[in-house]
Amino acid sequence: MSAPATAELDRARIADLTEREQRRLDESTPGSKAMFERARNALAGGVASAYQERQPWPIYLERGVGSRVWDVDGNERIDFHNAFGSMPQGHAHPAITEAVRTRLELGTHFAAPTEDAVAVAEELMRRFRMPRWRFVNSGTEATMDAIRIARAATGRDTIVKIFGSYHGHHDYVMVSIGVPYDQIGDRQNYVSLRYGAGIPQSVAELTIPVPFNDAATMERRIEQLVEEGRPPACVIMEPAMMNLGVVLPEPGYLEAVRELTKRLGVVLIFDEVKTGLCIAAGGAIERWGVIPDLVTLAKALGGGLSAGAIGGTEEVFDVVESGKVYQVGTFNGNPLAMAAARASLTEVLTPDAYEHLDSLEERLLHGCQEVIDRHGLPGYAVGIGAKGCVTFSPEPIVDYESFKAHQDVALADLAWLYNMNRRVYMTPGREEEWTLTVAHTPEDCDAFVAAFEEMAADLTA
Ligand SMILES: Cc1ncc(COP(=O)(O)O)c(C=O)c1O
Repeated sequence: MSAPATAELDRARIADLTEREQRRLDESTPGSKAMFERARNALAGGVASAYQERQPWPIYLERGVGSRVWDVDGNERIDFHNAFGSMPQGHAHPAITEAVRTRLELGTHFAAPTEDAVAVAEELMRRFRMPRWRFVNSGTEATMDAIRIARAATGRDTIVKIFGSYHGHHDYVMVSIGVPYDQIGDRQNYVSLRYGAGIPQSVAELTIPVPFNDAATMERRIEQLVEEGRPPACVIMEPAMMNLGVVLPEPGYLEAVRELTKRLGVVLIFDEVKTGLCIAAGGAIERWGVIPDLVTLAKALGGGLSAGAIGGTEEVFDVVESGKVYQVGTFNGNPLAMAAARASLTEVLTPDAYEHLDSLEERLLHGCQEVIDRHGLPGYAVGIGAKGCVTFSPEPIVDYESFKAHQDVALADLAWLYNMNRRVYMTPGREEEWTLTVAHTPEDCDAFVAAFEEMAADLTA
């Protein structure tokens, strides 16, 4: 990854193109507009989650098959959004559909254990090298329970997270993400800033943010917390940051974090809600060979149904098995979700599938980088496995500070509009990445690159 010599872009031209593309998208989505008018009378903001909001209206989807989705206006697009990375299996995969259909007729929920949950745990144990597992229903539940387990295992309250990382919407971790750059404080001692209203300040103060890709600062901060009499229970982190585009760990970083957390008696949690099952069969643990104490999964685990998981060492899971921590939930291990997860893991996300994803990723990264280099755009293509993005920045992004300082927000917004108007359904939001699926073809990747080429040509004409 390198930042090429860049052309000086005409900001007025970016604004004109944005207006033109916005108008074009509005004109092709009258059905979504009408749906929004209806929806907002019952659904707050017309959507089920704030992350589905969009101005002037959201694009409402009707269906998806393989790598394609259709909106309510009948516009067909190639899906690179894939439910924020939950669908590397592609939509309506026949093996998952069949497993769910079979399970439907056998009863969908008992709140009692079933064999599919055992089989899924066994497969996760093999992939992620973790001997103990429990299931939940979302990434939020997975990180919430993992933190509770770490607190119980250590008898400590404070936790450390990476500045800018998203780990779900519970209070412990809705801290120091998406915050104004000028309020974050000193890098050695970042401020614990609440992400939105409704989070008690006293809870936020238990969560200490540190920069990504900087093990020395993490170590210093942990030592300082020990001196202050509030040693941390855990470090929770994405091994590769996926919510600032994609930020890869620098060589040696994960190993250094593993070494220092072990030495200081701090539980290391890898939040693999996005990386797990998408960047390799065994996620970051397989890719980089660094083994944490706990790992959290969700998104891609359920093959399109709600499922999350927490894996861990026998030592840390002792607080669960002994009953000290109540790791509970009526829908944990829901039979329908477990049937889908089992089919996904054993029939869809196979070794061949990962080879296919890696080869598509290489093609897409190479295609985008070639466009960037030829037009001298400020940015670079970066990714791993099924996940990647074009980062619009004249400088490499290594952490939240460099992201906030350098990301070209106007270009990121314009790229999304170009995609949507050229049959590429991309994740909205300036922090998001693409997700490839087993159903994508090399031609699908070429269509993405062609849309990007059009934008680059228009910008530099
Ligand atoms: C790294 C990470 N952890 C946790 C979560 C929360 O997952 P969920 O939305 O399923 O609660 C997300 C969601 O985007 C995530 O990206």
